[in-house]
Amino acid sequence: MTPADQKIFLIGFMGSGKTYWGNKWAQASGYGFFDIDAMVELNKGKTIARIFAEDGEEHFRDLETIELRNLLNKNNFIAATGGGTPCFNDNISWMKENGTSVYLRSSPVNILKRLVTEKEKRPLIKNLQDEELLFYITEKLKEREPFYNQAKIILDVDDLDKNFVPDFMII
Ligand code: S3P
Repeated sequence: MTPADQKIFLIGFMGSGKTYWGNKWAQASGYGFFDIDAMVELNKGKTIARIFAEDGEEHFRDLETIELRNLLNKNNFIAATGGGTPCFNDNISWMKENGTSVYLRSSPVNILKRLVTEKEKRPLIKNLQDEELLFYITEKLKEREPFYNQAKIILDVDDLDKNFVPDFMII
């Protein structure tokens, strides 16, 4: 891979800041930015909440896989994946083969702080009471970390300075 064909995939739990940091680092480096959730919503013409409710999770997993894999012919971008993207359809292997995978690691308590006000648009957590959310995050993270931990780079994001730009974005 030369500097001219970088594909960076940010992975991690809901609320770990994939969209936030992806946007910032794309701006800092001049890379393009893609958000898989937003691409699914745009192409399907409905929100993720509606896709889950009307078509089911399995269909959503197929749609996010299609959007991810459509990035194969794009270069020099950073993509924010959905929290479940690397855990289905062997997507983690695909990302590792075709680009640089980066796990944005955050603690359950910090994830909770961010998710508590943003439950509505996330079908997996929208029906949980606030008191149940920390347990859900802790358990789901345990289930998903074997996928997230396969990333080439693991970045702890809880104490990052707002101006931080990682080395792999400096070109
Ligand atoms: C999901 C995470 C969401 C979105 C969908 C399912 C998950 O993305 O793809 O609600 O399975 O963790 P974010 O990680 O951007 O919230």
